[in-house]
Amino acid sequence: MRDAHSEAPGLRPARVEDHADFVRLFGELGVEESPPPLDVWVSDLVKRAFFLDGTAGAGAYALVDVLGETGYVVNLVVAPDQRGRGLGRKVMRELATWFRARGCREWMLYVKPDNEPALALYGAVGMKAGRLETTWRLSRDHLEALPLAPAELEVVPVAGADLAPLTQAFGLVPGKLARFATQSTHRLRRLRDPEHPEVAGLGLMDVRPQARVLTPFFAATPAHARALLEAAFLELGGAQELRVVTGDSELGSLLSDAGARAVLRTLAMRGPLPDPQ
Ligand SMILES: CC(C)(COP(=O)(O)OP(=O)(O)OC[C@H]1O[C@@H](n2cnc3c(N)ncnc32)[C@H](O)[C@@H]1OP(=O)(O)O)[C@@H](O)C(=O)NCCC(=O)NCCS
Repeated sequence: MRDAHSEAPGLRPARVEDHADFVRLFGELGVEESPPPLDVWVSDLVKRAFFLDGTAGAGAYALVDVLGETGYVVNLVVAPDQRGRGLGRKVMRELATWFRARGCREWMLYVKPDNEPALALYGAVGMKAGRLETTWRLSRDHLEALPLAPAELEVVPVAGADLAPLTQAFGLVPGKLARFATQSTHRLRRLRDPEHPEVAGLGLMDVRPQARVLTPFFAATPAHARALLEAAFLELGGAQELRVVTGDSELGSLLSDAGARAVLRTLAMRGPLPDPQ
């Protein structure tokens, strides 16, 4: 990509040898998880990452995904010594063009609600704040504080026919579950009541065994959440702890009272892709 407004080089596709710069810049996100290792970079991420070369080394990178008609900006980082010079805005402008070329009409991302520079940048490109979510770090013991899971519920893998009803029931971005269903690092699970198999909105989780995180995670009640969480601990075998991302305030209060730790707050932002300039 070239920037039509300047002679400076535009975004270029990432290369395998960019991994060290990716790791360094990923650290600027200030999240708990470690940067993805080289094998994950090579097998998956490099194909959907872009770099903007600065005057001295990598100026910025972005990691993206396409969820149906929604462009997902997974990460955006500008090198600390190159901020405030329009690079972030330039990357977003070029990503909008890239997403449009792939049939997207909207875009979305997650941002920390106190990240003023990022909120200002995303607001300036037309995104609006949506759902606020918390990432909780919990152990099996914390589950004791939740109401008992309804005995009749089963936790079953999500099948192709479930994607549309689950998307509708939980207000998900269309195409998101279908995309995650194709990725080997994701395991989509849902709650099923054998007496009422047609009811879609009981619960849904995406178990990501490598990262030991459940996101998206939705449950009709805290008791339904317990059914999902117990199944996730079973599925993750020896895991002492896992992380779960939820915007459910009732569930959050119960987990907090039980002593689970809130490790991250994120605000979803989305909006129409801006018109090409
Ligand atoms: C957020 C980030 C990408 C912005 O990149 P940047 O290159 O500094 O941003 P730009 O210079 O292109 O600025 C674009 C707009 O962002 C906003 N902005 C940038 N820095 C700002 C600051 N320090 N305070 C308030 N607003 C700011 C302004 O609206 C600005 O527009 P303006 O120049 O017309 O006022 C950068 O600060 C960063 O990498 N932060 C660390 C990683 C991170 O938090 N990434 C976002 C994760 S969701």
